Amino acid sequence: MREQIKQYLAEIDAFSAKTKDELEQFRIRFSGKKGVLNDLFAEFKNVAAEERKEMGVLLNDLKNKAQQKIDALRENFEAEESAKGDDLDLSLPVNFDFQGSRHPLMIIRNRMIEIFSRIGFTVAEGPEIEDDWHNFSALNFAPEHPARDMQDTFFIEENPDIILRTHTSSVQVRVMEKTSPPIRMIFPGRVYRNEAISARAHCFFHQIEGLYVDKNVSFADLRQTMLYFAKEMFSADTRIRLRPSYFPFTEPSAEMDISCNLCGGKGCSFCKYTGWVEILGCGMVNPNVLKNCGIDPEVYSGFAFGMGVERITNLVFNVKDLRMFSENDVRFLQQFESAWQ
Ligand code: DAH
Repeated sequence: MREQIKQYLAEIDAFSAKTKDELEQFRIRFSGKKGVLNDLFAEFKNVAAEERKEMGVLLNDLKNKAQQKIDALRENFEAEESAKGDDLDLSLPVNFDFQGSRHPLMIIRNRMIEIFSRIGFTVAEGPEIEDDWHNFSALNFAPEHPARDMQDTFFIEENPDIILRTHTSSVQVRVMEKTSPPIRMIFPGRVYRNEAISARAHCFFHQIEGLYVDKNVSFADLRQTMLYFAKEMFSADTRIRLRPSYFPFTEPSAEMDISCNLCGGKGCSFCKYTGWVEILGCGMVNPNVLKNCGIDPEVYSGFAFGMGVERITNLVFNVKDLRMFSENDVRFLQQFESAWQ
C-alpha cells in the first residue's frame, strides 16, 4: 500500500489538464465514488494495527494533494474564461446618450440630391475604378490631354487602361450608352486625383455631376437650372455669373460663380474682394460626346455640369481646411447635423 500511495503521489504531481474534461476525468479517478481514494480507504480497514498510524497520515496526505491539484487547475480554467470576457457584467450602466451624426459632406450631398430631385433629376452611380474610354476618350479628351498625365490620374502600372476615375463625368458616358433620351440625372460619387494633400486639395474628393439630354435643350435651360440650384442651396438672393471656359466634353463651356454667400457680394477676404466665388463647371454637351455614346446630335442636345461636394460644403459651413473631412475627428464631425435647419 505504501508503494501504491507513492506512485499516486507522483501521478498527481505530474498531472496537468489541457481541458476541463481532462480535469473532470482526473477528479473522478481520484475522488469519485469508485475512485482511488475510496478504494484505498476501504483497504485501510485491513491494515495491521502497528502500521495504521503511518498509513493514515500517508493516505490523508494523498487525499489533500489530490484535492489541491483539482482546486488549482479549476481556478486556472476560471481565470482563463473571465479573461475571455465570459463573465461580462451586463448589469453595469451604459451611456445611452451617444448618437451618431451624419458626415457634413453627406448632409450637403443629400441636400443637393433633394434640390435636383424636385425638378425631376434622378440619381445614378458609376464605378470608381474606370477605364480610359469612360473617363477620357468618350468625353472627347484628346490623346495628349494633360489630364491623362500621370500627375493627375492614378493609373494601374500593369494596365494603363484601368484608372481611378478623376471625375464623375465618366458616369455621363455610362448612362448615355445604355439610356435613350430624355435623360435628366445626377451622379454623385467619389473621385481621385494624384495631388499633394493640402488645405485646398486632396487625393480623393466628392463630386456631383448633372446631365440633361432631350430635344431642344438650350443654354437658357442650363442657366435657369443653375440659378435655381444656387438659390435653393445658398439663399434666395444668390446671384450667378457664367464665365466662358473650356472642357473637352462641353461646347460652349462655362465656369459658374455665385455671389459670395458670406458678404452678399459686397467683397470680403473670403471672395478675395471680388464678390464672387466659383462653384462649378458646366456647358452644352459636346456633339462628339453624344455621338460617342450612340445619341444623334442632330436630334438631341443637352447640358452638363459638375461640382465638388467639398467646395459646396466649405461654403455652406464655412470650413477652411478640407483635410478635416477625412480625419474622422468626431468633435468636428458632430457639429453639423444640428446646425443644419
Ligand atoms: N468634370 C469636371 C471636373 O472634374 C467638371 C465639369 C465641368 C463637369 C463641366 C461637367 C461640365 O459636366 O460640363 O473638373
